[in-house]
Amino acid sequence: MAPQTGPEPGLQGRHILFGVTGSIAAFKAAGWIRSLAREEARVTVVMTRAAKQFISPLTLGALSGNRVHGDMFDHHPERIMAHITLSREADCVLIAPATAQTIARLAHGMADDLLSATVLAADRPVVICPAMNTNMLHHPATRDNLERLRGFGYTVIAPACGTLACGDKGAGRLPEWDLVRETLLALFTEQDLAGRRILITAGPTREPLDPVRYLSNRSSGRMGYALARTARRRGAEVTLVVGPVHLDDPPGVEMVRVTTAVEMENAVGTLAERMDIIVGAAAVADYRPAVCQERKIKKTEAASRCIELESNPDIMAGLGGRRRPGQLLVGFAAESHDHEAEGRRKLVEKNLHLVVINDILGSRTGFDVETNQVTLLTGDDVRRLPLLSKEATADRIWDRVVELLRS
Ligand code: C5P
Repeated sequence: MAPQTGPEPGLQGRHILFGVTGSIAAFKAAGWIRSLAREEARVTVVMTRAAKQFISPLTLGALSGNRVHGDMFDHHPERIMAHITLSREADCVLIAPATAQTIARLAHGMADDLLSATVLAADRPVVICPAMNTNMLHHPATRDNLERLRGFGYTVIAPACGTLACGDKGAGRLPEWDLVRETLLALFTEQDLAGRRILITAGPTREPLDPVRYLSNRSSGRMGYALARTARRRGAEVTLVVGPVHLDDPPGVEMVRVTTAVEMENAVGTLAERMDIIVGAAAVADYRPAVCQERKIKKTEAASRCIELESNPDIMAGLGGRRRPGQLLVGFAAESHDHEAEGRRKLVEKNLHLVVINDILGSRTGFDVETNQVTLLTGDDVRRLPLLSKEATADRIWDRVVELLRS
């Protein structure tokens, strides 16, 4: 990996106080603790008595690399005030899985075990991941308790739906780690895009030629996905209009899936009016076959050697032509030559505020790689960024967007 400049977005160096309670889902906490330790977060685990019936403190101690706490009345002189020291040292508290019992304890300010006393003493953000049987979750007592926790300013992550350990189907499972990680990251991220509605296009488009063939390009969608993920983390309401890609959906982002450029234009067209910021990160095919054959083209047919093409609509240029006051438009310019001149031409011709220029011939920039090196171009400024991960690049693009919004 080439040297990268600037911090990578992540949880490294953050101190997470990880409360584990007595649910069958406690085994999943082991994987989450390992993920946190792998990205060099500091994890201190506090287990309830019931949690130790489901998973051993030895396991969580080994995975976190730290001693696991559990006893309120530990007679070690340094640990007599454990609930106070633990709550002071942490940057945030995560309770996963959180049982109905622990939720009830916290909702009523109980302090009868180390975890509940520590949460009561904590003036840090608290994130709760309930996990239990659906009926327990939907019982008015639990619903009220969760509402009280929200009222305290705690973040409650809604449980996922599916088949539960007891065999019932419904809500009650722990959510995916990606969603929880994003929730934690948002706690440590300035919410400078809060209240902004952002539309991002991403990925390639696919232009059919016959039932099995199409014209497309090598875009992986990674840059657009990184933009969506980081914008959401900074508080924006994000919609991603995406061509065919093989990536996991970024948590908390509304997804609109399309295949062709015309479908992408239609989807964007219906959403654009209410958006504050629109970013065109998609590699939209410039041309499509004039005719899509109903039957598979035979090797012997003349059409197999000569394809008539027609132009696709330029989505960003269309938006630039009718942008409403206050709406900010960001385009990409994937270039192999004359980067800055081409970027400037697109800025002007498409009536954009910012163009992100990248070099598609570099081995670590552009299509289908994890990193990017871009230049940010506005009407009066050119800024060349270093080689960064696509997520760090996305954050730098949003930094520039926030600057433009403030000016
Ligand atoms: O002209 P060029 O394709 O290089 O412009 C790239 C920028 O325009 C990107 O922001 C891309 O998403 C957008 N674009 C578009 N519709 C097209 C072609 C490009 O929105 N048909």
